Amino acid sequence: MTTGDAWDEDYRQRGRLWIGGVTGIFPLPPAGRVLELGCGNAKTIAAIRGDPRRITGIDISRHALILARSVAPEAAFCQADARRLPFPDGTFCVVTAFHITGHLSAEGRAALAGEALRVLVPGGIICVREFSTGDFRCGKGTQTAPMTFRRGTGIRTHYFTVDELEDLFAPARVISRIPRKWTMRIRGRDYPREVIDAVFRRE
Ligand SMILES: C[S@@+](CC[C@H](N)C(=O)[O-])C[C@H]1O[C@@H](n2cnc3c(N)ncnc32)[C@H](O)[C@@H]1O
Repeated sequence: MTTGDAWDEDYRQRGRLWIGGVTGIFPLPPAGRVLELGCGNAKTIAAIRGDPRRITGIDISRHALILARSVAPEAAFCQADARRLPFPDGTFCVVTAFHITGHLSAEGRAALAGEALRVLVPGGIICVREFSTGDFRCGKGTQTAPMTFRRGTGIRTHYFTVDELEDLFAPARVISRIPRKWTMRIRGRDYPREVIDAVFRRE
């Protein structure tokens, strides 16, 4: 089973996997197209303020896109692999990648970063959100690579350090890199969650 199959099966069985609000969303610039990599059921796209007709979401899962289209009918969607994007160089002014990069192999993460920068206009920005090594799930499941763990669904997650995320998107310039922490209550117990929100500019 490929990673894409595992995601597709998850969406097919469980429907909208991602619900609730999204905090820390960047304001849309006044013009230009926006690309969301691994848009899932369009939770993030629905939270971006601005004209949804400027937004394109791609996902490897066909079932995710069925859900995404029902959530954000005015945005454009296409089934595609973030490691090989079907767009010409310099198509977008913003690329967002929220919780997709960490689900790829080291080679896949490098390919995604290269593709994200390729499809950005010079001066365009990429917004990345990934779980960091401080998250309570880091270390849970079967270790498949350094700081990478596969859980029951077959989906693996890599947990990042800030420096690693910066290196991945080099030579893009770092605009901001903010670790965000909160606690998640599960059956009466609090667990630490931790993500890194990073913004880079393509020079
Ligand atoms: C954790 S979900 C995040 C969804 C969404 N970005 C959000 O934050 O709500 C990861 C998404 O990445 C998609 N995905 C995984 N590998 C992919 C790939 N190689 N290319 C495109 N999408 C991929 C999955 O199908 C899934 O919808």
